Amino acid sequence: MHTVTANGADIPALGFGTWTLVGDDAERLVAHALDNGYRHIDTAAMYDNEEAVGRGIRAAGVSRKDIFLTTKIWYPDIADGDLQASLEASLGRLGTDYVDLALIHWPSKTIPLGDSIKALNDTRNKGLARHIGVSNFTLGHIEEATSLSEHPLACNQVEYHPFLNQDLVLDACRKHGMALVSYCPLYRGGPLFASEQVKTLCKKHGRTPAQIVLRWHVQQDGVAAIPRSQNPERIVENLQIFDFELEPADMASLSALSERQQRLCDYDFSPTWD
Ligand SMILES: NC(=O)c1ccc[n+]([C@@H]2O[C@H](COP(=O)([O-])OP(=O)(O)OC[C@H]3O[C@@H](n4cnc5c(N)ncnc54)[C@H](OP(=O)(O)O)[C@@H]3O)[C@@H](O)[C@H]2O)c1
Repeated sequence: MHTVTANGADIPALGFGTWTLVGDDAERLVAHALDNGYRHIDTAAMYDNEEAVGRGIRAAGVSRKDIFLTTKIWYPDIADGDLQASLEASLGRLGTDYVDLALIHWPSKTIPLGDSIKALNDTRNKGLARHIGVSNFTLGHIEEATSLSEHPLACNQVEYHPFLNQDLVLDACRKHGMALVSYCPLYRGGPLFASEQVKTLCKKHGRTPAQIVLRWHVQQDGVAAIPRSQNPERIVENLQIFDFELEPADMASLSALSERQQRLCDYDFSPTWD
């Protein structure tokens, strides 16, 4: 597996997403992912699974220092003081002294960004987070956050898959040395996997739809992806994408699907997207 190097952070290009996984399932599946080669785990305070994710990490035969662990601070908790307290509570639930990456989960419409970025930097200065970053930030947020931050931001975690063009966000991330970490990288399966373009590439490369789509992600400069599955075989399948390559025309045929511009995660608290 390759890593995406972004402002000093070495982010394994394929991580394990844990949204909706809770309790014993989350523990078992996180341990299974690590024991089968994953080295990057994505969670969040809002997922209500940090204790189980922490147990999964301890149950796996992988040393903590070899795992890139990300958590996120939920957007109402990102005022100066609240953010630090939220991350400390996450560390307590995870049973670890630090995360590799602490992210602001969503921008807030009411809390000044400068306060949140100051608080985020504070967590890094205190050693609670080795790297800091953001999620669901627009171009405007990225420009403001990067200009305010004492430490460089390692990533912007955003929705990205072949049905959603993110060229503007990707360019902004690259300009600031940040990685783009793709969430919902598979568009949650379904219609993306059924598209003619994906089916054609499956036949051509002898791979599954998920492998074709995940390969499309990690073959782009500065892009990492964090697919989720509750199926142990699919968890293994999703990592087996580093032994083949898509040709430029293959990449282009998947990227062309983005004319649909379909977004799964859009809420009343979402920003106005670029
Ligand atoms: N920052 C944010 O605001 C934000 C928002 C959303 C998500 N995220 C993060 O991103 C992660 C991934 O996003 P997501 O979970 O929403 O969507 P996703 O990874 O695009 O899709 C997950 C779905 O795809 C299916 N799947 C996975 N591997 C498969 C395979 N090999 N073959 C067929 N189907 C497969 C899973 O079903 P099975 O379980 O049945 O395999 C599941 O229903 C989350 O878990 C979370 O960590 C972050």
